[in-house]
Amino acid sequence: KSMSIEALHSAVRDIPDFPKPGIVFKDITPVLSHPTLFRQAITLLCETAADSPIDKVVGIDARGFIFAAAVADRLNAGFIPIRKAGKLPWKTRGLAYALEYGEATVEIHEDAITPGERVLLVDDLLATGGTAAAAIRLIQGLGGDLVAASFLIELDFLQGRQQLGDVRIESVLRYGAEG
Ligand code: PRP
Repeated sequence: KSMSIEALHSAVRDIPDFPKPGIVFKDITPVLSHPTLFRQAITLLCETAADSPIDKVVGIDARGFIFAAAVADRLNAGFIPIRKAGKLPWKTRGLAYALEYGEATVEIHEDAITPGERVLLVDDLLATGGTAAAAIRLIQGLGGDLVAASFLIELDFLQGRQQLGDVRIESVLRYGAEG
């Protein structure tokens, strides 16, 4: 396990000053393009739910979809998208929140989760926590039983975890301010 974490860590590429000066972007495309690294990433993201059955895996637009859909397939669960405003066709619930860079609104279909369903939230990145906090409120607002949230990358120094209350948070890769 530690070897796959080390390999994943080496594959994530730092892009300075993207999308804005001062932001060091974590580029996960080298993980996606590598067949065994991608599979290992999905395996590690699934471990968060190892001893709890999951009904729905929720993924966040857009990079989160890549991981959450594969996790849902692996866990024999349904996949639910949380999308940026205006993208979902049916009746939605939405929340506006502040992002590491900018501002956004995310939405979920109001019939996406049946009250009491066991939900795993999956995203590529936990940064300031604004996106995940909004997703958690949407999931819980529909009556979902949020079992845990699973991230490929957590930027520890932004303290996003503190925005997420007492939800169980697991991250495959954790980074400090120096990367
Ligand atoms: C990124 C990432 C998370 C979010 C984390 O998404 O995929 O969803 O930011 O940031 P936060 O913890 O500070 O809220 P982004 O909005 O860049 O969208 P994308 O996946 O479409 O690139």
